[in-house]
Amino acid sequence: MATTYQRIKVAPMAGALGAEIGGIDLSRPPEPAAIAEIRRAFHDHQVLMFRDQKLSPEQHLALGRCFGPLTRSPYVKHMDAYPDIIAVLKEADENKISTFGNAWHSDFSFLEEPPMGSLLYGREIPSHGGDTLFASMYAAYEALSPGMRAMLDGMSAVHTGKPYGVQGVPKDLRVSRSIQMERNNPAADRETLHPVVRVHPDTGRKALFVNAIYTQRFENMTAAESKPLLDFLFAHAIQPEFTCRLRWAPGSLAMWDNRCTMHYAINDYDGRRRLMHRITVAGERSVGPRRNAA
Ligand code: SIN
Repeated sequence: MATTYQRIKVAPMAGALGAEIGGIDLSRPPEPAAIAEIRRAFHDHQVLMFRDQKLSPEQHLALGRCFGPLTRSPYVKHMDAYPDIIAVLKEADENKISTFGNAWHSDFSFLEEPPMGSLLYGREIPSHGGDTLFASMYAAYEALSPGMRAMLDGMSAVHTGKPYGVQGVPKDLRVSRSIQMERNNPAADRETLHPVVRVHPDTGRKALFVNAIYTQRFENMTAAESKPLLDFLFAHAIQPEFTCRLRWAPGSLAMWDNRCTMHYAINDYDGRRRLMHRITVAGERSVGPRRNAA
């Protein structure tokens, strides 16, 4: 049965995931009944986009806390004035460099308790370019054959903070000076085990939980043995039918569920400045269908 809403307007934006939410001003923390409706929409659509919001950093932080305790992301420099906010910035003169989030991933999946989600707010948006893609990992899982699903249901995979460690950083990586990330920290090479299929703690739905940035190999297998199946899963998960694309404007706020989506920040706006503020909501340990928790 379709969910009905009294306090917000919900307009789905693609078949697999994503909805635009209207009829609400987020500059003051919404009342509990409205938060409950936003949560329902979040569970139904996994990625929510609110337009034309005027949020100071304090208002952004207060909104984020309505959805759970905030957490700080390791290896990424947060704002001096707002230590729970990451300024995701690329300056107009930064050309042909790597930018934050410019590969399919779910955030910090190498943590024992990866984030629940993030609230990303558009402050300065290029006239064109700089969209963000999202993929539904529910849709990816559900489209697999019964045999593949049954096999993956019993598997776990090793995740590491490869881009921040000493083993996996490409030697010639050139990254934006506008967002500082710590590199070559041996602690980032630490391995964390997660089920390959994650049961969402609120919806009970199963989602694929591997991503090309942080997932290294399957448990009890070598990287070479794991690669063909991981490569298949990475490519399978980002089929256009499982995705939606967010076009930003100043004042747009997106909120995504990191437990059942991946995202990709498109780096196609050389010569134009883009400034986003991101806050991250803490998550929980992952649990698999056969309770093969990390
Ligand atoms: C991110 O991965 O959090 C960045 C997303 C974006 O800048 O669009």
